[in-house]
Amino acid sequence: MIRTKIESLLAPILAEFTDTPEKYLGMLTRCNDPKFGDYQANFAMSLAKTQGKNPREIASSMLSNILAADTEKMFAKVEVAGPGFLNFTLSDDWILHALTDISHDERLGVLPTDSPRTIILDYSSPNVAKPMHVGHIRSTVIGNALYRILKFLGHRVIGDNHLGDWGTQFGMIIYGWKHFRDENAFQQAPVTELSRLYRLVREKMDADEQIADACRKETERLHSGDSENLALWKRFMPFCLDEINRVYDRLDIHFDETLGESFYNDRLPGIVRMLQEKGLATESNGAMCVFLPGHENPMIVQKKDGAYLYATTDLATIEYRLETFSPDTILYVVDHRQSEHFEMLFQTVRLLGYENLELRHVRFGTVLGEDRRPFKTRSGDTVGLEGLLDEAVSRARAILMENSTEIPPEKMEETAQNIGIAALKYADISQNRESDYIFSYDKMLAMNGNTATYMQYAYARIQSIFTKSGVDPATDFSHMVLKLTHPSERALSLELLRFSEALEAAVKDYRPNFLSAYLYELANCYSSFFENCPVLRAENEEVRNSRLLLCNMTARTISLGLNLLGIHVVERM
Ligand code: ARG
Repeated sequence: MIRTKIESLLAPILAEFTDTPEKYLGMLTRCNDPKFGDYQANFAMSLAKTQGKNPREIASSMLSNILAADTEKMFAKVEVAGPGFLNFTLSDDWILHALTDISHDERLGVLPTDSPRTIILDYSSPNVAKPMHVGHIRSTVIGNALYRILKFLGHRVIGDNHLGDWGTQFGMIIYGWKHFRDENAFQQAPVTELSRLYRLVREKMDADEQIADACRKETERLHSGDSENLALWKRFMPFCLDEINRVYDRLDIHFDETLGESFYNDRLPGIVRMLQEKGLATESNGAMCVFLPGHENPMIVQKKDGAYLYATTDLATIEYRLETFSPDTILYVVDHRQSEHFEMLFQTVRLLGYENLELRHVRFGTVLGEDRRPFKTRSGDTVGLEGLLDEAVSRARAILMENSTEIPPEKMEETAQNIGIAALKYADISQNRESDYIFSYDKMLAMNGNTATYMQYAYARIQSIFTKSGVDPATDFSHMVLKLTHPSERALSLELLRFSEALEAAVKDYRPNFLSAYLYELANCYSSFFENCPVLRAENEEVRNSRLLLCNMTARTISLGLNLLGIHVVERM
């Protein structure tokens, strides 16, 4: 909110110096050193360069315009520094007013957007019939965080789990079922048996081209509606869905739509026909291909044997989504290894004439083990997602048992579940999504540092102040007046005012780690406030009340912010 305010004040002033003020507004940043002020801008330097003028002169003439425009008295001080920086120091009064304005607002001052968009968020989207593994964490938790933030900001968001429920794994499993099934094992643990068959057939296929061919034929039969294969598919699917839904329930992640690849099967011939009619698809070596500038290989939409491909389904999915939801944006939260697929897909859609549809591949890197290689079990298998959840929870339980005296025994299990899963989600979300990261239980559950545990602990500590103070957070705040008596109170207040800014930053390029980084900074500001400013033993009633209100606002911001990342706070820890 501070940023938007300063920007709207600066925009008309910049407009006197340039035709593209927006370009320069991005140069407004926070001061690293509070000695220089709260915000700084170096646009006078860039303007001077393009206009061949002296930067300090430009900065000085802006300065007087800024002071004249600042009728609200937002700034205590604006100065020109060094080669032509503008340094802005906010006035304490303005901070107090702004914070008081939002102190009773449930949304903590975050206004819903005035230009809501319809956004389809394609996320999680595992290939079913195999248990979910570590690779599924990223799309699932990053996607869900974006879902929650965008929705909170007032967009119409449709979360769609685009299941891989129609792929070649089914041909393999059907082949395996017909030749190697263990009915008993299937009765006991259906998905375990299906994935055993999958692995078994995978091995055999690699060694024997005939088996590979037989599997392809089974997939083909399924796709063309063969009754036996379709019946098997229909028999397997409910178990596959139960399997993933159990994980989604534990993660508290739910979708508006779960439309898997199978849903689009009937549309595939039409897609290829349409591409041909528009002259986009041409035959090459018997296959139907879309040749795209900048790509050596074409995007294949139908193979020689008639089979349709991943890209064909994705085109059909876009067609359906356009008809059904009229989206402005479709986001695909998918592994970076699929970058080329999405580039080609998006290029094709643009050639089809959908210029105004924003398509974005929100891509992410790999989860690595402590040895910096893709995270695998000792036997070389990928690590199951449920096992990871169990381990995180059991480690959280052990830490709580050892350190916490506050948790009543009947709450222990629930708290451990919450903290374990929060740690795992947060460890993923808080990374720059495009980088690989190293999976470490110790790091994710650390009480200090940028972890969910640290933030949940900060929240619980604030709740315990309230328990001790006898103030009921639900009712007793109306008479409390904010005051700034110490630099840490000021720093905390400024940080509280930056919540909406952090949310904007998180959706700008679809990076929820900007929200987690903000919450971490907020928790740090709170921590120095707490060290420097006694709350319950404040020097007088007024200061005590003001500090209680700051505590309350911090707790609410942490709780709402974590919630938008899909993480729940705990009252005691
Ligand atoms: N099922 C795919 C996979 O596991 C991801 C699907 C992503 N979404 C899409 N519309 N292509 O690799």
